[in-house]
Amino acid sequence: MADQVENASAVRTTSDWMAVIRHRESTEPDAYLVDPYAERLGGSEALVAYLAKLGGPNEVVITRGRFGDAVIAEALGSGVDQVAILASGSDTRPWRLPMPGATVYEADLPGQVETKIATLARAGVSPAGQVAVDVDLRTPWAGRLTEAGLDPRRPAVFLVEGLFYYFPADEADLLLDRLGSIAAEGSRLAFDIPDSAYADEPANAEFLAYMLDRGSPFVGASADPVRWLAGHGWDASAYLAADLGSSGLVPAPPARLVRPDRPIWHVGARRR
Ligand SMILES: C[S@@+](CC[C@H](N)C(=O)[O-])C[C@H]1O[C@@H](n2cnc3c(N)ncnc32)[C@H](O)[C@@H]1O
Repeated sequence: MADQVENASAVRTTSDWMAVIRHRESTEPDAYLVDPYAERLGGSEALVAYLAKLGGPNEVVITRGRFGDAVIAEALGSGVDQVAILASGSDTRPWRLPMPGATVYEADLPGQVETKIATLARAGVSPAGQVAVDVDLRTPWAGRLTEAGLDPRRPAVFLVEGLFYYFPADEADLLLDRLGSIAAEGSRLAFDIPDSAYADEPANAEFLAYMLDRGSPFVGASADPVRWLAGHGWDASAYLAADLGSSGLVPAPPARLVRPDRPIWHVGARRR
């Protein structure tokens, strides 16, 4: 239990890094994702630059973000009106994406979403009306979402970005089981997860050692997310960054965001 708490607290702060990465991307002339609110969430630019030097997979924050936006847009365009962002951290979609008529649930460790809302409010950004749900996603959490209003009889779109890295296989399976218990047929799901080869790439060794040392080791991976998802009742497609253009959902990312030595899957799925 002590290990889990330590891990949760170390993983919690990784969400600040995400905001810095999204802000930096927003200033690129060929930005693949623009997040006008990320700058106001703070985070250490110096630390994120250091992580990049170590070989941190900063690019995937941008590519999965654009992919997740497209999965939400496709679902809402098909009449889905419930959006559940799990491990939402510094995600600013409730502010930056038009989601008229949809209810957006943001679930993260206790206080995480409220802190973001308060930080943005102090910077003059009004609350976006999302429902904040305090949960530890390693525990039975699905009932918390339904108590908060999510209707499990109607399809929803679920996002789980930047989390499976920290969940060993048994916990990742449990999370999918719990998600499946509230995902009606036709629900959508998008998430990212390292390929099993990620940890063996010498280019990633320094970063992985850093993450281990700080108490938030990368322990999650999948060699075949499509097969994994099929076993949990989802029809899935999975793309590495280089193939994202073939998803039909997003354009191909610029070359600077495509790192073959950092193989990470972008998974999009539909509930059977
Ligand atoms: C790398 S950040 C990703 C945040 C966001 N999805 C994004 O892409 O910017 C990981 C997030 O997972 C959350 N998290 C980690 N372990 C969790 C757990 N057991 N239950 C709920 N949230 C968790 C952290 O608090 C943090 O906000």
